[in-house]
Amino acid sequence: MSADDINSKEKESEVHVHKGPWGHIIRGMWRTPLGLIGVVITTVSITLMIIGFIVDTLGLVDNPYAAIFTYMILPAGMMLGLAIIPIAAFLRRRQFYKFGISKEHLHINLSDHKHRRWVIGFIALTVINFAILAIIGYEGYHFTDSSYFCGKVCHTVMDPEYTAYQRSPHARVACVECHIGPGAQWFVRAKISGLRQVLAVATDSFSRPVPAPVEHLRPARDTCEHCHWPEKFHGKKIKIFTHFDNDDQVNPEVNEIALHIGGRNPKTDAFEGIHWHVSNNVEVSYLAVDKKRTQIAKVRVKRPDGTEDEFVKSDIEVPEGEDVEWRIMDCIDCHNRPTHVYDMPEERVDFGLLSKRINPEIPGIREDSLTVIRKNYATKDEANEQIVSYLLELQTQRDVETAKKYEEDIKRAGEFILEVYNANVWPAMNIGWGTYQMHLGHQYADEGYGCFRCHDEEHENANGDTITQDCSLCHDEPE
Ligand code: HEC
Ligand code: HEC
Ligand code: HEC
Ligand code: HEC
Ligand code: HEC
Repeated sequence: MSADDINSKEKESEVHVHKGPWGHIIRGMWRTPLGLIGVVITTVSITLMIIGFIVDTLGLVDNPYAAIFTYMILPAGMMLGLAIIPIAAFLRRRQFYKFGISKEHLHINLSDHKHRRWVIGFIALTVINFAILAIIGYEGYHFTDSSYFCGKVCHTVMDPEYTAYQRSPHARVACVECHIGPGAQWFVRAKISGLRQVLAVATDSFSRPVPAPVEHLRPARDTCEHCHWPEKFHGKKIKIFTHFDNDDQVNPEVNEIALHIGGRNPKTDAFEGIHWHVSNNVEVSYLAVDKKRTQIAKVRVKRPDGTEDEFVKSDIEVPEGEDVEWRIMDCIDCHNRPTHVYDMPEERVDFGLLSKRINPEIPGIREDSLTVIRKNYATKDEANEQIVSYLLELQTQRDVETAKKYEEDIKRAGEFILEVYNANVWPAMNIGWGTYQMHLGHQYADEGYGCFRCHDEEHENANGDTITQDCSLCHDEPE
């Protein structure tokens, strides 16, 4: 075919409109198969994107995958389509050269009204496309930063943390406020590590459970202290702890303590109390020999008066050459579970008895509830099937008559236990009771958690003084 053939062929179909070579090229974009593919991909992507955006904005669909499609996959499709079109046009242009159409004809001539129309049309379309991409990009950026995205997309992996988060004091604080924080550098780091995580989920190579403490968590100075500040004077806070016993399910032991949280005391201007560790002229740092930071070999302190001290626990050996690092104490070393708060079985069963969701009149119900809740179930489904009937069974073994008499109450107790189980245990992620523990007090000091990691009267300085465990240092009886 010669160039004349092509021209005459195209003239046949467009006899009444005269087209310059540019017209041919631009039209050629959707005359060639490649150009057509580009146009179809772009049009379909834009249309679906607009529908997805409207549906999402009106809140009609509550599905993270629909949002991923709208804000991530479709914009990529649109850009791909938009990239294909000029490539198709370029290839078509080459064809024209091949058939000897002179270069002159292919220049844009703005004084030609047809050329002008094409150029204006092209600019208008480009502006519209970029406007759409900008809006979708902005929404997509917010979407990938939302707690909903973090918590729901990688459902199996994040479900435990998301569930615990939703019942915590920070349930309205976005994941990114603590896990990324402000600033472009951390934003980029987070997106890169996010990609790595997506890859780990896609290839099923993530750790179960997700290890804590999080090694590369951004320092609390940049996250927590964005909303809280260490100087804030909290003074004392009264807390009441209620414990039952298998032998006495009715009359609890009640411990009422006034915690000296402290801060900068406005009367004396001095830092005092528990928050003394994070005051601006104090630095407490420590050397832990395990990843969980429960075995603390050495503690250093710089006090406001300029004195420094090092306390050493001689029976903890610091391994040679291992990458054990000194860590400056911050909020996370006490508040390690500010939002992913997991309960312990006794705590919840005792709460059940206190709130009467477990009827305390039923003999042996505390012991049986603990047995049922602590049992290892292979899956959540198995737990959902077995928990209520297992409790009934244990009670029947105790005494058939009483089990009959209290049948309804036992079932109600079983429902409560199932609820507690579902909020705390994830067999698929190997998360059981006590997988994630907190450092705030000393209730689990035996397992290496809490204040007594340092306040154990076993870390000694050169003079033989220790870090005190004097009860009244941290709390006393409320007045
Ligand atoms: C108030 C701050 C805060 C918020 C909000 C927050 N996290 Fe965390 N998160 C933490 C801290 C602190 C740790 C580290 C715990 C540790 O070191 O023991 C952590 C740990 C984790 C871990 C590691 C496993 C674990 O439980 O220790 C995952 C996964 C996680 N967060 C996911 C999320 C997701 C998903 C959200 C939002 C739904 C979220 N986080 C919201 C502070 C927060
Ligand atoms: C985006 C702001 C924000 C960030 C970031 C944040 N918090 Fe909070 N935090 C709050 C708010 C708001 C409350 C009060 C919630 C309430 O009382 O309803 C709160 C409450 C708390 C409480 C009291 C909990 C209780 O039992 O009442 C602690 C402790 C705390 N935050 C620690 C932390 C730590 C540790 C971090 C960093 C890992 C952190 N917060 C990051 C906003 C934030
Ligand atoms: C030495 C351990 C320790 C450190 C470090 C620490 N806290 Fe606390 N904080 C506590 C304890 C203990 C409480 C009382 C806990 C409770 O209510 O059960 C508390 C309570 C709080 C409260 C709630 C106060 C109230 O009136 O209810 C907030 C908010 C808080 N801390 C924020 C922070 C922030 C932010 C940091 C870091 C700048 C920080 N804490 C560092 C131990 C610590
Ligand atoms: C990493 C080690 C470490 C941990 C963990 C730790 N502390 Fe301390 N704490 C110290 C050191 C060191 C001192 C200062 C001892 C000295 O000056 O002789 C101190 C001092 C204190 C003081 C006295 C502050 C003052 O006004 O002088 C209080 C109160 C206190 N700690 C409470 C707590 C509580 C509550 C926890 C747990 C939530 C806790 N600490 C966890 C190391 C630690
Ligand atoms: C280094 C600080 C510190 C010292 C020293 C300390 N406590 Fe505590 N204690 C705490 C904190 C913090 C809590 C609150 C934990 C929480 O909020 O869950 C607590 C809670 C308690 C509770 C209530 C917990 C429960 O489950 O009933 C009792 C009881 C208690 N302490 C007794 C003592 C006794 C007795 C001593 C002296 C041997 C002592 N504590 C020394 C920090 C301390």
